[in-house]
Amino acid sequence: MKITVITGSSHKKGTSALLADKFIEGAKESGHEVLRFDAAFEDVKPCLACEYCVSHEGECVRKDAMNEWYDKLIDSDMVVFVTPLYYYTMSAQIKAVIDRFHANNAKLAGNKKAMLFATSYGADDWTMEGLEKTYEGILRFLNWTDVGKLFATGCPVREVLEQTDFPNQAYELGKSIQ
Ligand SMILES: Cc1cc2nc3c(=O)[nH]c(=O)nc-3n(C[C@H](O)[C@H](O)[C@H](O)COP(=O)(O)O)c2cc1C
Repeated sequence: MKITVITGSSHKKGTSALLADKFIEGAKESGHEVLRFDAAFEDVKPCLACEYCVSHEGECVRKDAMNEWYDKLIDSDMVVFVTPLYYYTMSAQIKAVIDRFHANNAKLAGNKKAMLFATSYGADDWTMEGLEKTYEGILRFLNWTDVGKLFATGCPVREVLEQTDFPNQAYELGKSIQ
């Protein structure tokens, strides 16, 4: 299976990056091909909503890292979103990538699996509600199938996350992909 992992933190060695690392380790061990797109370290401009793409077969007027990633995303069997929780939803860095799906919604829609990984400081039972709803809406719109979510709540920094079972759970989720 071709899997694209999109991360959304500017902490190269942060909490969500560790979940991404462990997921990728497991997925590769199970023989999957994994591409990683670290959105915070790529040039991804916000969607202009100019609708140029509508009359130009999905070509986006913005010339940046997304241009070469459209085909890779369209070609993926699975897309994995990995984000720190920012104000109860995904980070702006990863949201910018998703907004840019707009140019190729039709080509991206259908027959893909998806997963969501998130980390947060808070650990209330409602901490991930907003993010989860957003993710579910995106999948419903794109007709993608959720195959797993991992919410590492109560983990403000990597040192705390390392003391939990969440990294192992990320690895196991990667390993379990069929
Ligand atoms: C701008 C910003 C907004 C945040 N918003 C939330 C939040 O709404 N709820 C929460 O529990 N933690 C929040 N946090 C804490 C981060 O989600 C948490 O520290 C996370 O582990 C950081 O992940 P990273 O190391 O991968 O960047 C926020 C942190 C930042 C910098």
